[in-house]
Amino acid sequence: MRRLALSVLALTSFILPATTPAQSPIAKTPPMGWNSWNYFYGKVTDKDIRDSADQIVSSGMKDAGYVYVNIDDTWQGKRDANGVLQANEKFPDMKALADYVHSKGLKIGIYSSPGPRTCAGYEGSLGHEEQDAKMYAEWGIDYLKYDLCSFIPAVMQKQAPNDKAAQMHLMIAAYDKMSKALKATGRPIVLSLCQYGWDAVWEWAPALGGNLWRTTDDIQANWNSIYTILSQQEGLQKYAGPGHWNDPDMLEVGNGKLSLAENRSHFSMWAMLSAPLLAGNDLPHMKPEINAILTNRDVIALDQDPLGKQADRVYSEGEVDVWKKQLSGGAVAIAILNAGSDRQSTHPFHLDTKKLGLRGTVKGKDLWSGKEIELKDNMPIELNARDILLVRIEKTK
Ligand code: GLA
Repeated sequence: MRRLALSVLALTSFILPATTPAQSPIAKTPPMGWNSWNYFYGKVTDKDIRDSADQIVSSGMKDAGYVYVNIDDTWQGKRDANGVLQANEKFPDMKALADYVHSKGLKIGIYSSPGPRTCAGYEGSLGHEEQDAKMYAEWGIDYLKYDLCSFIPAVMQKQAPNDKAAQMHLMIAAYDKMSKALKATGRPIVLSLCQYGWDAVWEWAPALGGNLWRTTDDIQANWNSIYTILSQQEGLQKYAGPGHWNDPDMLEVGNGKLSLAENRSHFSMWAMLSAPLLAGNDLPHMKPEINAILTNRDVIALDQDPLGKQADRVYSEGEVDVWKKQLSGGAVAIAILNAGSDRQSTHPFHLDTKKLGLRGTVKGKDLWSGKEIELKDNMPIELNARDILLVRIEKTK
């Protein structure tokens, strides 16, 4: 169902702002943490969540800024006679689990759907929005990912067959309803919209209190998926800012067969995009080189820069893309990404500093080697396949 064509209907006049983005007290910088889906999928258990929380602390990820430990789909059991949703046997005591995660100085996230069922077929929140929001608050939940899924056939297509505009109204109203239900609890809970970027979500999600919204279909642990999603972020820059972020989906760093260069480039570009940094790998078995990527403080600082400006792709030459991100204090970050599978040595890429608005030769820091680097106009840059040169320049004038 996620693969339905995107609708670009403009319905921005429909929602009544519950809060303006500027008032949002949470997600001032893109949320950082970990989510269970990209590695555990439907197998995640209470123990996996506890082990991951432990590992976030012992791996240095917590010190580097990772805070949220998010349970994705498949935690739900059945509703009792009063409609109260019980967790299933994989999660014996949600309150105790939340207390455990909090005891580590971390926060905990959960997952639901505005439909009757989640994407994996578990119980959704339809008709129980206030009740579920209250229960999340009682458990001490700090983050909700709200995933459209069965709301499409069960409500949108059923109530408004053949009327795309009416379907989108129903969808927006469903997100607005949960946002209000969360607010009514009085607990600050990050609201993550997951509806795959339909109906220009970036135009209406901030007004209803969304802190982040998926901009695309699901990510997968392969370069093609990562690069396709990266390319789809162009044009969305102006919608990101403190309290409200474009979400190109959770990280696949350390998953599948991604090469080290691919992992580095993926992480670098998500930081350039001011994307939420939600790791999705098997933390207890994380290799040191993956840990080093996820905890590179200089790269994380790009993502968490208080200005909250998402990078622009300034130009491309062959398979090399050049992106620029404005940072606070007049600093900039430049990313030069070899998206192709060939090493650029016989025909190296030549940098055009004019296109980047850089004057003369500038000094910066190569954020992966940690060394000083000089960027000169027309300089040849050799990049391995799918590797990146990521440079921070403190002041450009
Ligand atoms: C959808 C979402 C994923 C994940 C799964 C869970 O596919 O886009 O991120 O939450 O549902 O079923």
